[in-house]
Amino acid sequence: MDEQTRKLLGVDENKPNDWFESLYSESNEAGEGVPWANMSPHPLFNSWMEENQLMGKGKTALVIGCGMGDDAIKLESHGFNVTAFDVSNSAIALCKKRFPNSQVTFVQADLLKGIPEWKGKFDFVLEIFTIQALPPKYEEVLIKHVSDFVSNNGKLLMITEIQNDKRVFENGPPWLLNKDYKQSFENHGLKEVFHTTSTEAEMGDEIHLTVFQKQL
Ligand SMILES: C[S@@+](CC[C@H](N)C(=O)[O-])C[C@H]1O[C@@H](n2cnc3c(N)ncnc32)[C@H](O)[C@@H]1O
Repeated sequence: MDEQTRKLLGVDENKPNDWFESLYSESNEAGEGVPWANMSPHPLFNSWMEENQLMGKGKTALVIGCGMGDDAIKLESHGFNVTAFDVSNSAIALCKKRFPNSQVTFVQADLLKGIPEWKGKFDFVLEIFTIQALPPKYEEVLIKHVSDFVSNNGKLLMITEIQNDKRVFENGPPWLLNKDYKQSFENHGLKEVFHTTSTEAEMGDEIHLTVFQKQL
């Protein structure tokens, strides 16, 4: 993305959350105005859920950067007790408007700050395209905060696009990850238990779906 488009969107490396609220506040529950809105669960996540027949009865799940909320609803349909958060209040309002009968707890929270009361609380954590939505200088702290949410023996499923070029602020958003993200999660006690790579990435060289399990 060039400097002019970044300016137009209001992307600021030192206030990286702000432009999301502006974007969602000018969008609607049909997803108009949200460039990444699928209005359905992410297809790779959806297939993985169906293939693995994941059953969530009696288990907790957390959706990070939940956007329009469809992935949270998918987890709820598999029986999980779901919490889903986004930094944008307007995104959370759209989720509540779209799914008024859902039991999902949609809540505003900031991944950059971390949420200490959620430490080790979730059996299943889902992260799709949120780390890559924030500038590279925050990668370490974001990976730590995502890892913190996972309970012992719990799982983290993440979907991310990968670039072979080095991550630099001037090329985003998004700031696609490099392959070394896996090592960073492993440094926080998360062991890779499943991985699939697709070359059908929209922007990067590859798209990864990786499942980690916490082993303390
Ligand atoms: C590229 S979108 C992906 C949304 C959704 N996961 C999806 O796949 O459709 C990134 C999302 O992360 C949210 N986000 C950005 N910074 C965040 C932060 N610091 N804490 C929580 N959510 C954040 C944005 O508001 C946006 O909804």
